[in-house]
Amino acid sequence: MTTKDTILILDFYGQYNQLIARRVRECGVYAELVPYTISIEEIQKRSPKGIIFTGGPASVYEEDAPKCDQRIFELGIPILGICYGMQLMAYLLGGTVKKASKREYGVTSVRLDTTSLLFQNFSSKNDFLMSHTDFVETLPDDFVGIAKTKNCPYAAIMNSFKNLYGVQFHAEVELSNDGVTLLKNFLFSICHCQDTWKMDSFVEETVSFLKKKIGNKKVLCALSGGVDSTVAATLVEKAIGKNLICIFVDHGLLRKGEAEQVEMIFSLKQLQFQKVDAKERFLTRLRGITDPEEKRKIIGEEFIHVFQEEAKKIGKIDYLVQGTIYPDVIESGVSTKKTIKSHHNVGGLPDVIEFEEILEPLRDLFKDEVRKVGLELGLPKELIYRQPFPGPGLAIRIIGDITEEKLSILKEADTIFREKIEKNHLNDSIHQYFAVLTNLRSVGVMGDERTYDYTVALRAVETSDFMTAKFAKIPYDILEEVSEKIVNEVPHVNRVVYDITSKPPATIEYE
Ligand code: XMP
Repeated sequence: MTTKDTILILDFYGQYNQLIARRVRECGVYAELVPYTISIEEIQKRSPKGIIFTGGPASVYEEDAPKCDQRIFELGIPILGICYGMQLMAYLLGGTVKKASKREYGVTSVRLDTTSLLFQNFSSKNDFLMSHTDFVETLPDDFVGIAKTKNCPYAAIMNSFKNLYGVQFHAEVELSNDGVTLLKNFLFSICHCQDTWKMDSFVEETVSFLKKKIGNKKVLCALSGGVDSTVAATLVEKAIGKNLICIFVDHGLLRKGEAEQVEMIFSLKQLQFQKVDAKERFLTRLRGITDPEEKRKIIGEEFIHVFQEEAKKIGKIDYLVQGTIYPDVIESGVSTKKTIKSHHNVGGLPDVIEFEEILEPLRDLFKDEVRKVGLELGLPKELIYRQPFPGPGLAIRIIGDITEEKLSILKEADTIFREKIEKNHLNDSIHQYFAVLTNLRSVGVMGDERTYDYTVALRAVETSDFMTAKFAKIPYDILEEVSEKIVNEVPHVNRVVYDITSKPPATIEYE
């Protein structure tokens, strides 16, 4: 790959660490989150144009507080410390940090010295999010204060000779007014970065890198139908064409029309695409199984068996391509590219199939960047903006045992619900929405007839990270339309309920 201007973000465990990296990238500059323990040699090897210290929950004066190598300030690289990052900078360079009697929290009016490069294009007052108890009490030599609030004498500090800056507030969050301008000032006026991190150049560079790397060798990809594996496979396909072999295992637990959509996208291309119809196999193994964990385990195992059998038929494979993305890398604690991540969607695959190396063309990208790459590659929008879908599929949205009939009921009800949400343009604010077939049957009346049929539960949540979620407040009239359509059009459903629990205490999925 060609060299690109890089910002290294030293992670001191702040809750906004990934967000800082995303914001920098949105400004067109490549940013990487690295452990605060990164060595000076490693930093020099990467030649970053600037360094950012994240916030974090510790206090600098605690014995085991996370601290970076002090020599970092002598590298001549501009540094921006945020919150804990600013306190650490001040502390390590000889200033003092103290605990305030009261925490300063919330959007706060900050007075700025607009002659500082960091605050150019701001007016003298701006609202930023403050969230701290500790504060910098005295400054290190050669530093000056460039912002203050009613309670905080040093809301921002700088040593302009050494290009060291610190802000006590969180410019990276949306609650802060114009925080992006501050980041841009740091990136472009202080670090002199070029805004070359763009997804069209990413496609071009990655394709040419893959072409060179793979040559005439063979690559295998397990397509799941999700956006990550589809975008990863499409990049490899663009690089090497027919030497990419895609295996798509249709386990029969996908949503209505999903398998056909994946097949259509890939069968149009000049590559070897194999859809394996394993529906019967999966359903046979799942017959009579009601325990959620057992279902998940069976599906994982069966997937590997099918994949392995198909791979054996193909013969020697040189590379395996995976759709690992940057949050997966961060979450598994690997931010130094040296280790190839072994965790992936289809558990255990690399151990059972022989190949030289794993290719992960998306391992540096956030989800929104993967989507932009997908658009660049001309993939359909419905696929790119598809909401998350669990690997075990509809099996964990059917409570109790799984049968063909139940799958068919759920697919129809789910399609009706999803179409209504999309038609009413609620899909931007609701991040995951689907139907669940409960195991509850109850008495109803249809025409003059008594019925004894299933209850469908509708689940729709708003969330930013899927770790916590709130149930979506869908207007009653839309819920009414969905309910009427489902009971009228889907046989064996006589009751529809809407799930009004958040996560926690519930989870998003039912099993
Ligand atoms: P829960 O139910 O734990 O789900 O609140 C959180 C998010 O994770 C998705 N999910 C999965 N994704 N394999 C996946 O790839 C799985 O086994 C799995 N289980 C849950 C779920 O859809 C939600 O977005």
